[in-house]
Amino acid sequence: MTAPGVVSFQWRMPVDVRFGAGCAAELPDRLGERSALVMAFEPATALGWRAQWTAALGQRLRAWIEVPDGLSSMARCREFSEQVWPVLEANPGTVLIALGGGTTLDIAKLVRCRPVQARPQIDSQIDSQIDSLSGARLRTASFDRVADALRGRAPWLDLDLAPLWMVPTTAGTGSEVTRWATVWDTDFEPAQKRSFDEAFGYADCAFVDPLLTDSCPAGVTRDTALDALSHALEAIWNRHANPISDALAVSAARKVLNALPVVLQDPANAQARSALSLASLEAGFAFSQTRTALAHALSYAVTLEQGTPHGLACAMWLPAAWALAQGCDARVDGLLEQVFARQSDELGDPRDASRYPRALQVWLNSVGVSCDPASYGVLDADRRIQAALSSARGRNFIAA
Ligand SMILES: [Fe+2]
Repeated sequence: MTAPGVVSFQWRMPVDVRFGAGCAAELPDRLGERSALVMAFEPATALGWRAQWTAALGQRLRAWIEVPDGLSSMARCREFSEQVWPVLEANPGTVLIALGGGTTLDIAKLVRCRPVQARPQIDSQIDSQIDSLSGARLRTASFDRVADALRGRAPWLDLDLAPLWMVPTTAGTGSEVTRWATVWDTDFEPAQKRSFDEAFGYADCAFVDPLLTDSCPAGVTRDTALDALSHALEAIWNRHANPISDALAVSAARKVLNALPVVLQDPANAQARSALSLASLEAGFAFSQTRTALAHALSYAVTLEQGTPHGLACAMWLPAAWALAQGCDARVDGLLEQVFARQSDELGDPRDASRYPRALQVWLNSVGVSCDPASYGVLDADRRIQAALSSARGRNFIAA
């Protein structure tokens, strides 16, 4: 048992991270002689990136698979595994490169998990018939093992994990430095949220290149930055916070508050774009250790019901979460006051603690975000909050 005031925590971060404008261009050199399979968000082709990467990777590029926009779902993971696994089988050691936003990165985390084929013990004549008739069926059966593990029906066993390198094209997800992914199981009605969360879930490498976010439209830039802000605040009002996650989260949140309005006014501002990418990475590091909390717990149903982008669906709950957290823990109150010191300057007496959450609301409104759940079609916010407080993520929240 730890004495009060004595700090004790663990920190695990096995991802080899590169950060900086232009760092993604180093990827082909770092690949060396290895072959690569790229899973890329669809716009990469129109942006000319596919042509650039294809030229840079040359003979090493075994396949380029486009990932259209949409939720990461069990059905899509199955579909992509049927495209990716034959390439990995035929080219052992191939590096799976995920280029895109949170959906692409999350799907790649699942698709890299290829169960080792348990070859049936049958005579060679029947064996060859199976090979010719049902290669696809064998692969489908293997994905069923992934699906069973995701649904908690079976353990993760005998996986051949492809090396995974992640190249985020948005500033916000943090998926490149976390061990988990969200997968919607649309085989169920209503759809079920499955959380992939395993010690082997980390990528091997991440290239966080702010230049890649230049192509993000304003809506994506805003909503992904809101996701980063949510990760940062949720790492602060979290039972698993530690001094390092606190420092990273405060730094990340401040960067988002300062840089997002600049980027929305001036999308080509390289310094502000870099600040958002760094904020996303800092918040990613922080919540990779603490996990998320109440706002994320509340967000998933809104996204599923209304199609609200993830970052926005989280941010809309931040003021309500802060209202519950305020006064529970002096550490949390102090850190949040640090984060919002500048934004709260003109909001009344510094001794009035309510001015800080108001500063969050004012800032969110200034980037076009309503904090009224009813404006997102949510008419039972109080009931949802009470239910979320006892969920797995909700229990990470200091006020739960
Ligand atoms: Fe998130």
